[in-house]
Amino acid sequence: MHKNFLDFSGKSVLITGAGSGIGKATALYLSSINAKLLLLDINQESLKETLKSCNKQCDFLAIDLSDSHSIKNIVGDKIKTFGPLDGMVHIAGIPYVSPLKTLNTDTVDKVLKINTVAALELAKVFTRHKFYTPENPSIVFISSVYGLVGSAANVAYAMSKSALHGITKSLAIELAPKRVRVNCVAPGFIKTQMLDNVSGSFDPEYNDRLNQLHPLGLGEAEDIAYGITYLLSDMSKWVTGSILSVDGGFTAQ
Ligand SMILES: NC(=O)c1ccc[n+]([C@@H]2O[C@H](COP(=O)([O-])OP(=O)(O)OC[C@H]3O[C@@H](n4cnc5c(N)ncnc54)[C@H](O)[C@@H]3O)[C@@H](O)[C@H]2O)c1
Repeated sequence: MHKNFLDFSGKSVLITGAGSGIGKATALYLSSINAKLLLLDINQESLKETLKSCNKQCDFLAIDLSDSHSIKNIVGDKIKTFGPLDGMVHIAGIPYVSPLKTLNTDTVDKVLKINTVAALELAKVFTRHKFYTPENPSIVFISSVYGLVGSAANVAYAMSKSALHGITKSLAIELAPKRVRVNCVAPGFIKTQMLDNVSGSFDPEYNDRLNQLHPLGLGEAEDIAYGITYLLSDMSKWVTGSILSVDGGFTAQ
């Protein structure tokens, strides 16, 4: 008999960005397959909404992940009471659409802190304090097709996401002796609040082209949740350092 890899009973996972979009969809799916979840987001109200639809083992922590100091101290303390983790997924992130000539370095700094540096700090907390279980622990980052291919007026976001690919590969090698796997999902465009927020900054022709850019059409947040679940599950126990494109064919063209 083969094991049912999609039963997460007994598995604990920390999810950032769980208040909205891809993070919320991931929380709801993992909860439905019995995972015990620690949900993080800056928005306490939306976290509480997500928690209402999750199983009874789940808990939350409202935190600003752009603050490395808070990640080190507050997240660590929370995991001590929550219990050891089998997985960690950093989904929280922000976009920044601006051409080079108007690029604001303070905003670039903020984008990097949330999208990239928080990923490193969370991985540090997860591994340094042995907050992970010995059973096939897994770290998953979320980048973007714009970490893989270029796009005008997206330089800061692209920088923050392509850096995650370097982090994924380097940490995969560094943490392999501890049996901690590190992978990344690179989504195409997904219908979430983030897409609604940035699509106003695109020129109208580009919005029209968005559908054409995805041979399978725009994605749903659940499509990314399923990719994340594979990388968290024991089904991917021999997969580390990989960038999984879940993009409806965007980067295949
Ligand atoms: N939606 C897309 O088309 C798309 C495409 C590729 C990659 N992504 C990536 O997927 C991830 C999730 O995107 P989404 O579309 O679900 O976005 P979203 O805006 O719906 O959700 C992002 C979540 O991150 C939280 N967050 C923002 N700043 C934070 C901070 N400082 N501390 C803690 N939490 C914070 C927000 O409160 C929100 O709940 C992001 O990393 C994004 O870059 C999204």
